[in-house]
Amino acid sequence: TVRRCLAKRFPGRKGEDAIFRRLLEDELDWDVMVLGAGAAGLFAGIEAARRGRRVLVVDHAAKPAEKIRISGGGRCNFTNLEISADRYLGRNPRFALSALKRFTQWDFIARMDAAGIAWHEKTLGQLFCDGPATQVVDWLTGDLAAVGGTLWTGCSLGAVARQGNGFAVETDRGVQEAAAVIVATGGKSIPKMGASGYGYRVAESFSLAVTETRPALVPLTFAEQELVWLKPLAGVAVQGRVSCGKTGFDEAVLFTHRGLSGPAILQISSYWREGQAISVNLCPGQDGAAVLRAAKASGGKGHLAGALARLVPERLARHLAEASGLSGPLAEMPGAVLDRVAAGLADWRLMPVGSEGYRTAEVTLGGVDTDGLDARTMEAKAVPGLYFVGEVVDVTGWLGGYNFQWAWSSGWAAGQVA
Ligand code: FDA
Repeated sequence: TVRRCLAKRFPGRKGEDAIFRRLLEDELDWDVMVLGAGAAGLFAGIEAARRGRRVLVVDHAAKPAEKIRISGGGRCNFTNLEISADRYLGRNPRFALSALKRFTQWDFIARMDAAGIAWHEKTLGQLFCDGPATQVVDWLTGDLAAVGGTLWTGCSLGAVARQGNGFAVETDRGVQEAAAVIVATGGKSIPKMGASGYGYRVAESFSLAVTETRPALVPLTFAEQELVWLKPLAGVAVQGRVSCGKTGFDEAVLFTHRGLSGPAILQISSYWREGQAISVNLCPGQDGAAVLRAAKASGGKGHLAGALARLVPERLARHLAEASGLSGPLAEMPGAVLDRVAAGLADWRLMPVGSEGYRTAEVTLGGVDTDGLDARTMEAKAVPGLYFVGEVVDVTGWLGGYNFQWAWSSGWAAGQVA
């Protein structure tokens, strides 16, 4: 009976020896409690358990790491070969450097290789799994179990409070005591997938600063008068350059029913702020004026749409030609007019009115202020034993595997010491 009672009281421990040892030592329930079983939480839990720490990872979702599963179009863009501090945003972008250098993309690639998960480089240094992203989830959860970690899914979390030298964490399976707590509950993006903003509230309950949060890596939206122009192009993709201020990205732009999307737009959304215009170059790397003038010089009865199609996809070319109000043969159009058309292609100014918000944003900008965290360990400077890793921290990467690498690196860093 005593053993049964103890097993109930300490559900994370298997084996009578361990239970009796715990009773004798009057230990806390866990050495390390990890809140959130996403990329950062699972990795932190594995690392801590590997060091012999008694680890419990808790997530309120029915399944762990749902974002890994859906990431990269189901193929998980798990890291990038070009990791560097300037590809991260936050109040102090250099904060991320320590963790990123201690556990690098090469270290993660070595783990993937050891796990037998095949991968390939797609473009711009982005590494994707050859097979489904669920391989990564299965590997991480399997690894956590193999090193003795415990995972509770479908378990809600409540307040986290200091208790003695450790912490008491409210869960719907009772209050759990732990010597250290690693908060890895991510940001606010995609509430449907379990995002809750919980980690920010934990930080604030310990008087830690949280910087302003906003959706990032998200499609931008436009006012009705611009939508009227954009909507008929839904489905068209063009290799463009999108800029906002001094920042620009050369990647695909996708026209949608709601506005603009595609990698270049998602990237710039992290830099764009309300009231700013963006500039889209629809034919980067091409001398549009020279192409149009050459088309005119070649004579014949060609029209503007045909000439524009040498620079942009045909549907867009037809649409642009119609919108220009210019009709008649190209040969009769003054060169200066063609130059103006080309200039418009290279610097198409748009004024977004907003973004699609957390509903579709891939990440959340802002978060737990890095000033309050130790860059080497992710521990809160003012609260020994409390750690923040992954997206909940004010570190946000570019599109292309940068965010997962931050999750692995920061999770790894906390897992070495917690
Ligand atoms: P993450 O959000 O992954 O995990 C947090 C966990 O905490 C979740 O399991 C959640 O259920 C749990 N949780 C939240 N609140 C809780 C509460 N109150 N109680 C208990 N549990 C709670 N990045 C990249 O590098 N390459 C890519 O290919 C993609 N692709 C991609 C696609 C889509 C559609 C999205 C939305 C995002 C991406 N990303 C990405 C971004 C990437 O998914 C993100 O940066 C990481 O998942 C962040 O990892 P974390 O572990 O920090 O949070």
